Amino acid sequence: MKYPKEYLDEIKTRLKVSTVVSKTVKLKKRGKEFVGLSPFKTEKTPSFTVNDEKEFYHCFSTSEHGNIFDFVMKTQNLRFGEAVKMLSNLAGMQPYTFSKQDVERENKWKIYKSINQNFSEFYKNELFKNKNSIKAKNYLKERGLSGVEVKNFNLGFVTEDLDYYEVLNKDFDEETIKDTGLFYFDEKKKKYVSRFRNRIIFPINNISGNIIGFGGRIIDDNKNLAKYINSPETPFFKKGSNLYNLDKARKLSNKLEDVYLVEGYMDVIGLSKNGIENTVANLGTALTSKQIQILNQFYNHIIICFDGDQSGYKAALRAAENIIDELKPDKKISFLLLENNLDPDNYVNKFGKEKFLEFSVKNSIPIHKFIFQHYSSQISENPSSKAVFEKNLREIASKIKDSFVKKYTLEYFLEKISELTPNINFNYSRNFKTPTKSLEKTKNYYNETKSLKSYEIKEFSFLYIILKKTELISQNLHLIENVKLYSKENKQLYEEILNQTNNLSNLDINKLDLDKNLINRVNNYASIKHIILKNLNDETKILAIFSEIIQDLKNYELEQRILELESKFSQDLSESTFNELKELKKRQKIN
Ligand code: UTP
Ligand code: MN
Repeated sequence: MKYPKEYLDEIKTRLKVSTVVSKTVKLKKRGKEFVGLSPFKTEKTPSFTVNDEKEFYHCFSTSEHGNIFDFVMKTQNLRFGEAVKMLSNLAGMQPYTFSKQDVERENKWKIYKSINQNFSEFYKNELFKNKNSIKAKNYLKERGLSGVEVKNFNLGFVTEDLDYYEVLNKDFDEETIKDTGLFYFDEKKKKYVSRFRNRIIFPINNISGNIIGFGGRIIDDNKNLAKYINSPETPFFKKGSNLYNLDKARKLSNKLEDVYLVEGYMDVIGLSKNGIENTVANLGTALTSKQIQILNQFYNHIIICFDGDQSGYKAALRAAENIIDELKPDKKISFLLLENNLDPDNYVNKFGKEKFLEFSVKNSIPIHKFIFQHYSSQISENPSSKAVFEKNLREIASKIKDSFVKKYTLEYFLEKISELTPNINFNYSRNFKTPTKSLEKTKNYYNETKSLKSYEIKEFSFLYIILKKTELISQNLHLIENVKLYSKENKQLYEEILNQTNNLSNLDINKLDLDKNLINRVNNYASIKHIILKNLNDETKILAIFSEIIQDLKNYELEQRILELESKFSQDLSESTFNELKELKKRQKIN
């Protein structure tokens, strides 16, 4: 349920950030702000600040940043709704009451929750106490699970002795019970039967730890029955928006960088048994963007580790294509491919935690590489196949929502594709020979300059003047302070000049050992050449031109820095980034 903005604003008005924060962090006043030791990191010198006026806190050592709701969510692992309830209570306000439909839904949800909870408790007990559960118990033992895992994951066994529908029907009507998905109507028997009978059940929790559905596994191999079944979609159980074990795994995100996303319930339990608890599973359906968004709220790196068989590989590939559009700066998605038909559960039970983690560090491949690897393994030696390959990759990259990530993913694909066509540039100029030699030369020159970046052309002019008028520039060294060159070759040449002339104090350029090719490039491409040669003795004019070029180069640097900060700001929304950005934009305007 969405809280209206006014209600949230009232909480914020009543509660100062420092009031909320000081419940857990000792704060000292410093000017307009408060400082304290970061709750997000062990530290000796305070890097955590609170600003009541601006209504936020900021931690300089972890870049954590936010308002009072963020603070309690992050420090106490609460969901937004839980944080609102807690803070409204602290502010002495009534809990928010929603509209009539909201209230009805909330009531239904309470009943749904409690039916699932009771169902789970009941069959958990049956697994331990009922004589008819022996087979199920033995099965779990055989699979290496002890009482610890059974309790941790609240496994149960749905015995057949009791008609649980009848039990529920004493308190709830048919519709309500049907809505839980725990029973279905058997047309032959003309009654409701338990969907999970004779199955081991795995309760599926929502992010706050309430049971919203179940997975159920048979214990005898039976070709006529599905090995696993899940609760059907219900008003409160949407498979594409939930993940098995997320409620527990999210609590570890304070301490751990990455989360494993696996296929099965048993993979989660197996990894967890072996001490890898930052693990979730999707629920027997295709992975969705929504699930990635949810995981990204807690973890920066998602490692997808599906079964090491053909169907696991196919599922991984489908997942990669489904979710690559969600890639964000600072977030990573990788794939860990197992071999020999092992699944994560088999692997970790066979080789143990350390080997699994080692394998994971060595073999996780970023999503863009995984996709490239797959498609490039599919091409055959004919142009159409290669064309399809390139088209596919371009299409996949174009789906990425974040424009920066899109740009670099496409760049990666195109660079790899160009490795497949090493002759293309060479052939191109050969096949389009122009009739006369001299014309061809002009054309080449024209094509080459066209491919130069605007800043590169400025750099050539900059270097040209230094080479031609070394003495003049050496008398005006302040001009070249803090000048940065970007193209690799020009940068190299500039450094050679500065080093060998000892910062332009040893002035005989001709005696230096400079790369001839680099010098030739400067002589060829410096657009300023003719003006300089014409005004070789007009020092004022040359200095003016030189200053202008430097200004352009500095503006380019500024532009790059602004782009960088804009992307950073869209990520961290931090005040300091914003201020820096504002400052730079002001400077850009002045220039
Ligand atoms: P697996 O068959 O790989 O499950 O299916 P697993 O966990 O390795 O099984 P066992 O218990 O070790 O043999 C992975 C997931 O796919 C879904 C389930 O969510 C399962 O955990 N699934 C599988 C189904 O929904 N139905 C099925 O019939 C099989
Ligand atoms: Mn499996």
